[in-house]
Amino acid sequence: MKRIALTLLLGIALPAMADRMPLPANTPASFKNECGSCHLAFPPAMLTANDWQRTVAGLKDHFGTDATVDGPAQQEISNFLQRNAGNAGKVGAGGEPPRITQTDRFVRKHREVAPKYWKDPRIKSAANCEACHQGAADGRYSEHEIAIRELRR
Ligand code: HEC
Ligand code: HEC
Repeated sequence: MKRIALTLLLGIALPAMADRMPLPANTPASFKNECGSCHLAFPPAMLTANDWQRTVAGLKDHFGTDATVDGPAQQEISNFLQRNAGNAGKVGAGGEPPRITQTDRFVRKHREVAPKYWKDPRIKSAANCEACHQGAADGRYSEHEIAIRELRR
């Protein structure tokens, strides 16, 4: 009886931790508005504090766009990202400029995705999380909610 309970507990708890990455309840509106207008408001735990700091410092020249945030919102976003950043040992560095998609963690989680999909016109970029993860806007990254049929397990 005890063993059954433990198996159930592990079976439910473990995947739920890896594939659920919702924005924290206290996420400031400024983050969703300013950092979710061109792409998904990425989960802060997917980059290290150091990489978020460099991202915010470089917003004027942000992947070919100007993503400058005016006024107190910049500090608010910066504080939020610092507080909720990922553990450096688990996530790994994102390169220059920092990319979630270049971290060890992202690469490890996507090892089974064939290279051709990152260039597929339905996807275009590895940073286009929602193209594959139907629940990404709500922080759901389960393998059961992959939009592209060939990628489903
Ligand atoms: C004006 C549009 C725009 C705004 C606003 C914007 N970004 Fe971006 N961001 C981009 C573009 C374009 C890319 C490159 C996407 C790609 O390579 O597919 C990008 C990429 C990124 C990446 C790297 C994604 C990856 O792993 O490849 C991060 C991290 C990021 N943005 C964070 C932010 C944050 C934080 C904010 C808010 C302060 C923000 N962005 C606001 C346009 C924007
Ligand atoms: C080309 C499609 C594709 C894109 C784009 C993509 N992913 Fe994934 N992702 C997958 C697939 C397929 C899996 C399942 C891999 C597996 O379970 O072996 C996965 C797994 C994951 C997992 C692990 C879930 C778990 O159960 O542990 C996370 C977290 C994740 N992706 C986040 C992201 C984020 C964040 C982005 C955007 C920055 C992104 N993905 C972009 C296809 C994609």
